[in-house]
Amino acid sequence: MADEPLAGQWAPVTGGSKGIGLGVAGTLARAGASVAIVARGLPALEQARADVTALVRPGSEAIVRAVDIADPPARRSLFEWVRESLPALNIVVVNAGAGALVPFLEVTLDEW
Ligand SMILES: NC(=O)c1ccc[n+]([C@@H]2O[C@H](COP(=O)([O-])OP(=O)(O)OC[C@H]3O[C@@H](n4cnc5c(N)ncnc54)[C@H](OP(=O)(O)O)[C@@H]3O)[C@@H](O)[C@H]2O)c1
Repeated sequence: MADEPLAGQWAPVTGGSKGIGLGVAGTLARAGASVAIVARGLPALEQARADVTALVRPGSEAIVRAVDIADPPARRSLFEWVRESLPALNIVVVNAGAGALVPFLEVTLDEW
């Protein structure tokens, strides 16, 4: 449908429980996508699930997953969960992160 250009598509959004990520998740939901919201804190995730569920179009859904994406094993488990639990993977929003105000070539692996 014209007002649901993302109908049938799935979009994980890291850092999707607050701020910019929550706004992106809501925008994707309004456009017809199903969203998988990823962050660490469960209370904010549950609130985000409620907020975004109010925006999803019929046939789409909002689900959440508590993961610390700074933790490599947890990140790998997120990839497994996406592979096993999402019916499709069409859009990925990598929003959770932190900025380092140094020249790019001076960013350490840990900061990256
Ligand atoms: N706002 C700005 O003006 C601005 C400017 C430049 C760049 N950015 C970048 O844009 C992104 C979002 O900014 P924002 O202002 O919307 O931030 P925010 O309101 O603090 O939201 C951050 C989101 O990321 C999640 N998060 C943080 N660390 C995480 C981790 N290790 N694993 C999983 N989820 C994590 C937070 O939930 P939990 O804490 O519960 O995990 C929350 O959902 C950040 O990468 C930020 O550096 C923002």
